[in-house]
Amino acid sequence: MAVAATKVNTLNLTPVSKADESYHRPTDLKAFDDTKSGVKGLVDAGITEIPRIFYQPPESNDSGHVSDKTQIHIPVIDLDHIGKTALKRRYTVDRIREASEKFGFFQLINHGIPVSVVEEMKNGVRRFHEQDTELKAPYYSRNIMRPFIYVSNFDLYSSATTNWRDTFRYLSAPNSHHPQKLPESCRDILEDYSKQVMEIGKLMFELLSEALCLPPTYLNDIDCSEGLALVCHYYPPCPQPNMAIGTSEHTDNDFITILLQDHIGGLQVRHGNKWVDVPPVAGALVVNIGDLLQLITNDKFKSAKHRVVANKEGPRVSVAGFFSTFGLQTSKVYGPIKELVSEENPAIYRDTTIKDFNIQFHSKGIGTSTLNHFKLTQAHV
Ligand code: OGA
Ligand code: NI
Repeated sequence: MAVAATKVNTLNLTPVSKADESYHRPTDLKAFDDTKSGVKGLVDAGITEIPRIFYQPPESNDSGHVSDKTQIHIPVIDLDHIGKTALKRRYTVDRIREASEKFGFFQLINHGIPVSVVEEMKNGVRRFHEQDTELKAPYYSRNIMRPFIYVSNFDLYSSATTNWRDTFRYLSAPNSHHPQKLPESCRDILEDYSKQVMEIGKLMFELLSEALCLPPTYLNDIDCSEGLALVCHYYPPCPQPNMAIGTSEHTDNDFITILLQDHIGGLQVRHGNKWVDVPPVAGALVVNIGDLLQLITNDKFKSAKHRVVANKEGPRVSVAGFFSTFGLQTSKVYGPIKELVSEENPAIYRDTTIKDFNIQFHSKGIGTSTLNHFKLTQAHV
């Protein structure tokens, strides 16, 4: 680590306490990016004050955080025996419908991924990020078409705030890649875990189809489960957590996300005008509805805003399985599902391809609404 640490020490990123005149954000962003050692590199170099690029306006800190007394709970759905009885299935589908309409978020227990696979996946994320920078640097890229990329803040140059986290992303489906293209530190588990997430994803799309009163195969048949990307975050401990954010508030740019989070916590979902914790539940996976599912369900299912607060404790790791083909060219066009629209409930959105949706998402950076751009009333804005 000695080489990377030296590089970071000579960086002189502007600390928050320095006067504004000495701060030129683009210069600091570029200097940070050029280290290729991410936020972890700063922490390894022993910083005690966060650099100015991570500064969060104070008004966004904890605004509307839900108090303990009025705690709202994100539903926990038990998949045990889901395939065994029709009654159990109907009950589960009803709960998924309710959670998808009300929160856009729920947790899944007894989902069938073995504990050993889940644990090894979290270890794999730590192993990759905790390697020397020299081993990670060859993967440092914002070229989203590459099967495996490592980067700190994919939207570093377009978003207002830099997030206190590093990330690697693996494109698992639809195209398979030669295992040699993946780093050895997490190659095997990425392949194993993504197969398991794909299975759960397919089951989720069946249950979500039923929740929409459509045939069980509907969402899989229109290829909602065609693409899967694993986005593996590493949130180093933050010396000034109230001044930074782990992940800025945003909605997900996909059909659904199946998220594995470790025991540290910090994930919050917007519900009404409050931030509600999505607490770590041992063995659970978090499922949330993304913008594309909100679009095709014509707003029946909600893609909720969420964020991750920064923490003195860490590192925190998470693995977000995004169901989308993202930038890939496919022939498919998506719009509000015909069966879900009527004269009383007309289509809110225009048709789009996932690729165009993705271009729109990336043009604005994390936290801006992609869905608004596709609203029929604002179609040409
Ligand atoms: C995301 C996300 C949450 C987390 O990757 O879109 O919201 O807990 N991640 O890391
Ligand atoms: Ni997200």
